[in-house]
Amino acid sequence: MNITVIGAGYVGLVQAVGLAEAGHVVRCVDVNVERVECLRRAEVPFFEIGLAEKLEANSAAGRLRFFSSLEDASRDFESVCVFVCVQTPSREDGSCDLSAVEAVMKEIGRVGLDCLVVVKSTVPPGLEEEMCGWLGTGGRLAANPEFLREGRAMEDFFAPDRIVIGVSSSRDEQVLRDVYAFLDVPIFVMSIASAQLTKYSANTMLAMRLSLMNELACIADVVGADIQDVERGIGSDTRIGSPFLRAGAGFGGSCFPKDVQALARVASTHGVESLLIQPIIEANIRQGMYFVEKADRLLGGISGKTIAVWGMAFNKNTDDVRESPAVRISQELLSRGAKLRVFDPEAMENAKKEIVSADVVWCDSKEVALEGVDALFVLTEWDEFLTADWERVAGAISGGLIFDGKNCLPRADVARAGFRVHGMGLWNA
Ligand code: UDX
Ligand code: UDX
Repeated sequence: MNITVIGAGYVGLVQAVGLAEAGHVVRCVDVNVERVECLRRAEVPFFEIGLAEKLEANSAAGRLRFFSSLEDASRDFESVCVFVCVQTPSREDGSCDLSAVEAVMKEIGRVGLDCLVVVKSTVPPGLEEEMCGWLGTGGRLAANPEFLREGRAMEDFFAPDRIVIGVSSSRDEQVLRDVYAFLDVPIFVMSIASAQLTKYSANTMLAMRLSLMNELACIADVVGADIQDVERGIGSDTRIGSPFLRAGAGFGGSCFPKDVQALARVASTHGVESLLIQPIIEANIRQGMYFVEKADRLLGGISGKTIAVWGMAFNKNTDDVRESPAVRISQELLSRGAKLRVFDPEAMENAKKEIVSADVVWCDSKEVALEGVDALFVLTEWDEFLTADWERVAGAISGGLIFDGKNCLPRADVARAGFRVHGMGLWNA
């Protein structure tokens, strides 16, 4: 089937490449001309495992082309649907900024695409009428929220737990069933508002789960419990389940903070008093500060200390530092007078744009970052950090202290090398 994708970012590019890989003929449009040129050279403008190979293969096979204008992309190309995958960032007040979606919808109306318009971008429920107005008369709208995790986006595209589609006719439902016919997973069909609320609810539920675990870790610290034992103890309850229970110094990414705040705004603008949603964000920010306070106490003060920081990205296997706790914590350490030696396998260039300080040395390897430091902070769960040579690390860190902001380190290996690992809720591991 012929499909158009608008927006070639973390979401849109995965959608375009994935659909081409599944056998569809895809034209991807992005206003950023430089990005389009980069994609035409089969270069991916960010780090996502497996994306570059499939971009190259499908472009070479003629199933995938890139354009900087919708008009050009639509010439002699009859799409069955167009996916809208542009950013929907938070405004200052936490509400969702729909300006990019509005611009794209109006462009679709101007160009006069006669096909189903599928909003994959995360937009608040209850705006269907307004969005149809942007499309103009006869516009057909659907919702198909994404559940891609950065760092595992290609895996999540080809093996999702489910597909959620919000449609207003059986004709539109059939279009999306045909698009996703290559997947053998449940397809949940519902109203557009329900599909959009599903997306916000999923992210809010996941974020709330993490914020609760993070608060339980703070309690574990003060009562001498081990949060990883608690994780096992509750995760074995099939009603809770074990995934997504790892406590740490906070979660990051462009989605959880943005979507949780947007949902809180949806509730408040409709007069629903939410007591649970907004605190998720406050608890998350506080968690990073709690982690720094703990380190300050155990280090006997941060000022004047030289600290190695392993990890800047908000998640492993990505170069994305949007809302990354590692960036927030590093900035707090600097504000308390620390000097940092920083390494991240992929996110260094993005991190340098966020942290501008003469007290930061950007290092080429995790080993170089250890030279002459008093302590090590691990702030992203990269696999290469977990398999470090802990005996060698022991020789490098004078104070013998490791602060594990992701509770991700192999505690037995690290303890064997003579370290005290201080995670969140890991009682003096
Ligand atoms: C974003 C949000 O992060 C995600 O929550 C939402 O579900 C989808 O939108 P993402 O892909 O991360 O996803 O956004 P981003 O990486 O900023 O990419 C957006 C792309 O759209 C950019 O390449 C931008 O140039 C392009 N764009 C934006 C257009 O092509 N046209 C526009 O009018 C605006
Ligand atoms: C999330 C949702 O998982 C995805 O479904 C949605 O489409 C976009 O938002 P993403 O933010 O890309 O995906 O990555 P995710 O793997 O969910 O991690 C989010 C944050 O939670 C990261 O900072 C990660 O380190 C943290 N996390 C994750 C934990 O702290 N503990 C865990 O157990 C899992």
